[in-house]
Amino acid sequence: MSANKGKSFYVTTPIFYVNDAPHIGHAYTEVAADVLARWHRQRGEQSFLLTGTDEHGEKILRTAAANKTTPQEWADKLVEEAWLPLLETIDINNQDFIRTTEKRHEKNVQVFLQHLYDTGFIYRGSYEGNYCVGCEEYKTEGDLIDGEGDFAGQQVCAIHSKPVEKLQETNYFFKLSEFTQPLLDFYEANPNFIQPDSARNEVVAFVRRGLDDLSISRSKEKFDWGIDIPWDDSHITYVWFDALLNYITAIGYGEDTAEAKAKFEMLWPASVQVVGKDILRFHAVIWPAMLMAAGLAPANQVFGHGWLLVGGEKMSKSKLTGIAPSQITDTFGSDAFRYYFMKAIAFGSDGSFSWEDLSARYQAELANGFGNLASRVIAMVHRYFEGSLPAAGDFTDADMQVQAIAAAAVADADAAIEKVAIQDALTAIWTLVDELNNYITVQEPWVLAKDEATRGRLATVLNTTVEGLRVLAILLNPITPKATAKLWAAIGTSLGSLADQEIGQAGTWGQFQPGAVISELEALFPRIEVSDENA
Ligand code: ME8
Ligand code: MG
Repeated sequence: MSANKGKSFYVTTPIFYVNDAPHIGHAYTEVAADVLARWHRQRGEQSFLLTGTDEHGEKILRTAAANKTTPQEWADKLVEEAWLPLLETIDINNQDFIRTTEKRHEKNVQVFLQHLYDTGFIYRGSYEGNYCVGCEEYKTEGDLIDGEGDFAGQQVCAIHSKPVEKLQETNYFFKLSEFTQPLLDFYEANPNFIQPDSARNEVVAFVRRGLDDLSISRSKEKFDWGIDIPWDDSHITYVWFDALLNYITAIGYGEDTAEAKAKFEMLWPASVQVVGKDILRFHAVIWPAMLMAAGLAPANQVFGHGWLLVGGEKMSKSKLTGIAPSQITDTFGSDAFRYYFMKAIAFGSDGSFSWEDLSARYQAELANGFGNLASRVIAMVHRYFEGSLPAAGDFTDADMQVQAIAAAAVADADAAIEKVAIQDALTAIWTLVDELNNYITVQEPWVLAKDEATRGRLATVLNTTVEGLRVLAILLNPITPKATAKLWAAIGTSLGSLADQEIGQAGTWGQFQPGAVISELEALFPRIEVSDENA
């Protein structure tokens, strides 16, 4: 029994607007969060991944109207036809999926609001400002840039490149300004709360300038697609105030049952909240302030990752610059999708997707580097030992080096994941892929096989490489789960299920019993004929 049993890891993605179908930017966030969740599960922790959809607000209402339907029907259709299927397409193992139109959410958003109202954190006031419907946010002067094309001569949102709308409203306000100092103190005491560091510095600088109170309701005279303010049914809740609460309504906040309380107790505060940097301020400023007001702890960490860019700009639903994830997975499969985005872009930095880079990495790193390694080793165990793993004899320096690199790969990858440096974790894992390939080249088992006198040495070399594959199967299971399931079916069944192989013990050598059955391997990364369209 490991030290991690019972420890919980709660990771969240943003809940996405259902104004349109997902593109690879949303899939990118999902994959990163899923890799973290799967890694912690492989460590033996109780790992819980939450994702979902953000369905209220003016943006969804307008989209539904433009499509001549109701917002609920529109949301239902998009969730069924696009957002839930996304999770299959990229092989996400989420423990829950929350929709903000669900009763369990709406009801407890009202519980939260009422609590803040009763404790004096919400008041009635009036406001005038520039609203971006794309962001569902009031913008300050500094958030706006000069428009181009159709919008030349106007100020537009820097993210959506569309004009903002002047709004003047009387509504309810959250006393966000009171949290300026508590937030600064919190950032200081918890230097890892906002990551990466560049994101942290930006948020701290923003909060240092002082926070304004936040309008958290809209009058139903303007539009009414949202959650009623519990004490005033002429107003609905501001969509972001509603949406941020999903992270706690999904795990039992506001519910009275013992089961719900236990779940909340176990999972909150969240371990990591993964978001794109476009919405970092909501998660690193407004959200912790809301929690503090309610007497709840902020999350342990908010990680603001970079953007997938198209022509230097953020890929976007509203600008229709998205690439559908299935365009990639139909050809390359979900494992390659997951591996590519985690390996090609440092998590936290912006990056661009390119078919050439994807193709090249698929071929060099997945098919040749990892896939061929596994198939060659397993084929040799069949050819020379009839599929029965031979025992190792005395170890040479070369064998010891493989063991040392395997142990370092486990430790380094695990330490990288702790820092949410997923790319570094893959780099660490690949030191073992490269070492095993190099070891085989140097040891030349096919030469050892020619002479009965070196049969003992052949046994040690193949035993060593199969042990190495075992380590790779465990370390890559969170990233390429379909390939590692195939690999485990070939090498690992004598050790139990792959899910039960804990990362903490993965580097311990000599886990196979001599004579362990090694079965045939299904090709892990088959050759791909790249069509002209994708070339
Ligand atoms: O903002 N590159 O939803 P949203 C990388 N509903 N990631 C990208 C991306 C890109 N080009 N485009 C989108 C919302 N994303 C709110 C969130 S949370 C309480 C409410 C990802 O549909 C990234 O995670 O606009 C970004 O933060 C998110 O999608 C925005 O999704
Ligand atoms: Mg957006």
